[in-house]
Amino acid sequence: VISSGWSEKANIVVFVQGASRGIGLEFCRQILERHPQALVYGGCRRPQDAKKLQELQQEVGKRLEIITCDLNAEHTLAAMAKEICQKQTHLDLLINASGILHDKQSGLKPEKRIEDLSGSHLMQSFQINAIGAMLVVKYLWPLLRRQPCVIANISAKVGSISDNHLGGWYGYRASKAALNMFTKTLAIELGRRNSEASVVALHPGTTDTELSKPFQVNVPDDRLFAVERTVAQLLEILYKLTPADSGRFFSWDGSELPW
Ligand SMILES: NC(=O)c1ccc[n+]([C@@H]2O[C@H](COP(=O)([O-])OP(=O)(O)OC[C@H]3O[C@@H](n4cnc5c(N)ncnc54)[C@H](OP(=O)(O)O)[C@@H]3O)[C@@H](O)[C@H]2O)c1
Repeated sequence: VISSGWSEKANIVVFVQGASRGIGLEFCRQILERHPQALVYGGCRRPQDAKKLQELQQEVGKRLEIITCDLNAEHTLAAMAKEICQKQTHLDLLINASGILHDKQSGLKPEKRIEDLSGSHLMQSFQINAIGAMLVVKYLWPLLRRQPCVIANISAKVGSISDNHLGGWYGYRASKAALNMFTKTLAIELGRRNSEASVVALHPGTTDTELSKPFQVNVPDDRLFAVERTVAQLLEILYKLTPADSGRFFSWDGSELPW
């Protein structure tokens, strides 16, 4: 098996966008634990409020760098990339984990019917779930073109167009479908420049985080994963990826999902 090779070196360099909590935070934790010489950049919009990420940094010291990265403020992405590019020549793994399904502050909730649609909420979903991830890649592009590397965009099965049998959740579904198209398009461009790159979309499965909290009642216990399990499962997929898998959409159990 030809592996993508990103995890074979001891001193891997990883960037996790959306590291303040939930799945992104757990990716930071597990990568630092499994790779004792890894350097992880944890991107989050308000480092001062990211208490759990700060606690993790107290445990691991300089192996975790917390860096401001607000998907609503493009200049923070440019500044983040400038800082990383001054210190690094490549990234082995880039994970885009930020995502939004509901937001008390703006009143965003998954829509049940067409009357629930709001232009500003749709814009917010697209900005965080799709556009932001691609802008992160745009600014970190100089670090992704040469070496073996993996870009993993955390998507959602409900973003699959052919798997949509229930309807509803317009903004979340459509923004994740947009992320999926971005993923495929990026896989094609990066594949032309870097034959050792893999770009994939991943469905984490329903995971016990703040994002899924309001929607957990109908989820059977064995289908609601602890965040530790979700990240362990997704890392298994990432370890096994080969460049032939680039441009694909994988579920938590390693099965391929239809776009
Ligand atoms: N949990 C599930 O069941 C499930 C299922 C399918 C897919 N997913 C996907 O998995 C990914 C991670 O979700 P999660 O469950 O870990 O959710 P979560 O615990 O709610 O975490 C969401 C993350 O997104 C970040 N974020 C929100 N707005 C941002 C912005 N403007 N700029 C930068 N970061 C921003 C949050 O940062 P702040 O702390 O600053 O708000 C937080 O780190 C998402 O893409 C989600 O769509 C989750």
